[in-house]
Amino acid sequence: MASKKLFLLPGDGIGPEAMTEVKKLIAVMNENGAGFETEEGLVGGSAYDAHGQAISEADMEKALAADAVLFGAVGGPKWDDVPYEVRPEAGLLRLRKDLELFANLRPAICYPALAASSSLKQDVVEGLDILIVRELTGGVYFGEPKQIIDLGNGQKRGIDTQIYDTFEIERIAGVAFELARTRNNHVTSMEKRNVMKSGVLWNEVVTATHKAKFSDVKLDHMLADAGGMQLVRWPKQFDVIVTDNLFGDMLSDVAAMLTGSLGMLPSASLGAPDAKTGKRKALYEPVHGSAPDIAGKGIANPIAMIASFAMCLRYSFNMVAEADRLEKAISAVLDAGYRTGDIMSEGMKKVSTAEMGDAIVAQYRAG
Ligand code: NAD
Ligand code: IPM
Ligand code: MN
Repeated sequence: MASKKLFLLPGDGIGPEAMTEVKKLIAVMNENGAGFETEEGLVGGSAYDAHGQAISEADMEKALAADAVLFGAVGGPKWDDVPYEVRPEAGLLRLRKDLELFANLRPAICYPALAASSSLKQDVVEGLDILIVRELTGGVYFGEPKQIIDLGNGQKRGIDTQIYDTFEIERIAGVAFELARTRNNHVTSMEKRNVMKSGVLWNEVVTATHKAKFSDVKLDHMLADAGGMQLVRWPKQFDVIVTDNLFGDMLSDVAAMLTGSLGMLPSASLGAPDAKTGKRKALYEPVHGSAPDIAGKGIANPIAMIASFAMCLRYSFNMVAEADRLEKAISAVLDAGYRTGDIMSEGMKKVSTAEMGDAIVAQYRAG
C-alpha cells in the first residue's frame, strides 16, 4: 500500500479543537483499513512557547517528508508582542514557502441547509459553488525589500514589495484552467492592472496562457476591487477565480461569508507534481484563523477543518469515494439541523464542536 503519512499541526486557539474532530475521522477510517500514519507537531504560538520559533526545524523536516500536512490555525493576542520574525503566522508562511505550495484552492460552496441563514439574500447564495485559486508563494507576502526604515527625521517608512515573475503567473493560471475544465469551464482572473505593473503582467500572462493551451475555457478579466463587489452582488456569475496572494486572501474571506460562516470554508495548498512520482506536496487548512474570541469554549465550527480533510482525501490520496462520503455526511448533518453557534438559526439544534464532529463521524460511518 502506498504510504499515507499525515503530519498534523493543530496550532493555536480553535485549531486544536477543530483538529480533534478530524482525528476522530482518521481513527474511523483506519478501523476500515485506510492505513493513515499520523504524527503531530507544533506550529504558531504553541511552537513559540515551546522553543522560541514559529515552527522548529525538526517539525519542518517532518512536514517536508509527509504525504500531506493537516494544519489547524495559528495566532492570538497572547503573541501580539513577540518579534515579527517568530510571530505565529511566520510558521504558516514558512511552510507554504518551503514546501512550495503555490496553488491555494479555496472552494466556497453554499450547503442547501444554510442558504436561508446567509447574511445575503437566499437567491443570491442558493446553489453557490465557486472556487478561488489563490497564488500562495509570491506577491507582496514574500517580495523583498520588506522592511521598516527609520528615516531619521522622526519618520519611518514601511515597505512591502509586490513581485510576480512570468512562470509564477503561468503555473497558477494553468491550475485554474485545468480545474475549470473539471467544473463549468469558466475562469475569471482578477488583478489591478489599472494601478499595478504586476497587474499588467498578470493580465498579459493569463491571456497568453489561455491562448496557448486553454482556449476551450471561457476567460474573463476583472479588476479585483470590482471583483469583490461582484462577489457579494451576484456570486453565481463565477466558476473559478484566479488571483494573486493578497487579493486571494481578502476575496476568499468575502467568499466565506457567502457560505454562511468563515467556519465553513476549507482549503488545499498544493505544490507542483513531482516529475517522477507525480506526487505533490500538500497542506490542508481551514480558511479561518485561531478565532481567539471563541477559543477554549468548545463552540467553534469544525466543518472547515473536516472539509479540508475531505480535500486531503481527494487531492493527496485519490480517495474519491471517501471524500464524497465525508462531504455528503457534512451536508446530511446540516440537513438534520445540527448547527454550531456561528451558523445557528431559529428552530435548529445548537451543538458544540465535539457534538458536530461526532454527528459527522456517525453519519460518515452510516453512509
Ligand atoms: P479568525 O478567522 O480567527 O476569526 C474571525 C471571526 O470569525 C471571529 O469572530 C471568529 O470567532 C469567527 N470564526 C472563525 N472561525 C470560526 C469557526 N471555525 N467557528 C466559528 N466561528 C469562527 O480571524 P481573526 O480574528 O482576524 O484572526 C485571529 C488570529 O488568527 C490572528 O492572529 C490571525 O493572524 C490568525 N489567522 C490565522 C489563520 C491561519 O492560521 N490560517 C488564518 C486567518 C487568521
Ligand atoms: C489565510 C491567513 C494567512 C494569510 C495569515 C494567517 C498568514 O489569513 O490563510 O488566509 O494571510 O495568508
Ligand atoms: Mn486570510
